[in-house]
Amino acid sequence: MKKRVLVVSSANMDFVQRMRRVPNAGETIVESAEYGYGYVPGGKGANSAVAFARMGDDCVFCTRLGADANGDRLLSVYQKEGIDTRFAVRDKEAATGLASILVEEDGTNRILVYPGANERLNEEDVEEAFTCYPDAVYLQFEIPDEPVLAAAKFAAEKNIPLFVDAGPARADYPLDQLGRVEIFSPNETETKIFTGIDPNSAENCLRAAIKLAGMVDAKYIVIKLGGRGAFLYDGKYYHIIPSISVPVADTTAAGDTFTAALIHFYLDGVPMVDAVHLANCAAAIGVSRPGAYTSIPTIKEVLAFADRHPR
Ligand code: RIB
Repeated sequence: MKKRVLVVSSANMDFVQRMRRVPNAGETIVESAEYGYGYVPGGKGANSAVAFARMGDDCVFCTRLGADANGDRLLSVYQKEGIDTRFAVRDKEAATGLASILVEEDGTNRILVYPGANERLNEEDVEEAFTCYPDAVYLQFEIPDEPVLAAAKFAAEKNIPLFVDAGPARADYPLDQLGRVEIFSPNETETKIFTGIDPNSAENCLRAAIKLAGMVDAKYIVIKLGGRGAFLYDGKYYHIIPSISVPVADTTAAGDTFTAALIHFYLDGVPMVDAVHLANCAAAIGVSRPGAYTSIPTIKEVLAFADRHPR
């Protein structure tokens, strides 16, 4: 049966510029036209919502969009993807979130987010969204603490499993207030911000995971390691599940795709190590394509790719 996943998170329009390399401070680069730029729907929450929908889940998206042209475009994309947008509030006071994304030739990105309406998502919005009777709740930190912690509180009260993609990170984030989390998944940078440990080796991944386990009450910690794969820790044992090497076009939204795919397969009863491998497959497809939501694969594509790249 389809699982209903409530995503409480951000929505942005991404302004994406491609370039050979990012300019240095004080430098102007006139890039050749072949690199190009574009406006692509993005936002960590929206990317994950699209990923859940493409995995075949019943996705409900609680977010805030401005009452502007970007908001109109994003809403129509979500509706075309089959996402339930009843709790996507149109905010008359703030513009739709905007992310400026610089993508270099090797796919590396740098992202600066202007939060706009995302900053106005609040506890009442979240309370309203919980009337959809979700089977699972999914959070990220690209919105204020108030709606994140409210969603965690409602999930605990209603005994609904909670999943957290821990980005963007902040060293003083109140992780202890999240309560019980099924899967807590930061990337390398976020892990370093939370723990002060760079997960650049298996030993350091384990040290960081143990430290995280002392900060957040999580059943599983999954550290996304980009091209190196993912580190899975269950409080006792750890596994390193390697990524699948593909030509990289753009890494934007790879983490959002990974975490949503991981949760999808976990909720489907797939053993955790296999679920992480399938999430690696989803991320590999994602990085081989440009853009945020444009890069996210369907479940059919993920399973076909996994057939060609078994664990
Ligand atoms: O994770 C990628 C996303 O981060 C981009 O789509 C951008 O909007 C920022 O939120």
